[in-house]
Amino acid sequence: MGIRFLKISGVYFLIAVLLGLTMGIIHNFAFTSVHAHLNLLGWVSMALFGIIYSIYPQAGKTTLAKTHFWLHNLGLPVMQGALFLQILTSNGAFTVGIIIGSIIVVFGILLFVINLFKAIR
Ligand code: HEM
Ligand code: HEM
Repeated sequence: MGIRFLKISGVYFLIAVLLGLTMGIIHNFAFTSVHAHLNLLGWVSMALFGIIYSIYPQAGKTTLAKTHFWLHNLGLPVMQGALFLQILTSNGAFTVGIIIGSIIVVFGILLFVINLFKAIR
């Protein structure tokens, strides 16, 4: 899971800085929260997961790590996609997507923490 997390973190980094650059150029900061969380949950958190699972490969091979990987990579695009659409359209109906995506991400992080305590000694 280490290598997968590292590669995907790079993709999020690129998307997040492109959004930041666009926001700066067009002077529209409405999407700051999307930019911040793509950077922080996409780039920074996933790069850390990748480094941790690479330093401790035994932790990266568990079912908990695999489930964590999929929950994070399902929840984050749902959460940030819904937030992006909500800001774009001002339609409150997207809030439910933000909440569901966030809960999936948080549940994945819970599994990550359990995995840290169980697999790393
Ligand atoms: C070339 C790279 C980047 C560009 C062009 C960029 C651009 C921006 C812009 C235009 C804003 C809005 C500022 C405002 O609302 O006053 C912003 C906010 C923010 N950026 Fe970036 N950014 C970049 C990289 C990063 C990275 C690498 C991170 C984190 C690892 C990051 C985290 C944040 C955060 C947390 C905020 C919100 C700050 C706040 O709430 O005041 N940015 N960025
Ligand atoms: C599922 C996980 C997370 C949820 C549900 C969440 C939720 C939120 C919410 C509701 C806000 C306020 C947004 C606004 O006022 O527009 C916020 C802001 C912020 N969060 Fe998070 N967050 C999460 C994870 C993180 C992580 C992991 C980091 C850092 C590593 C982080 C850093 C920030 C920062 C810097 C801001 C202020 C920047 C902004 O204006 O958006 N968040 N977050």
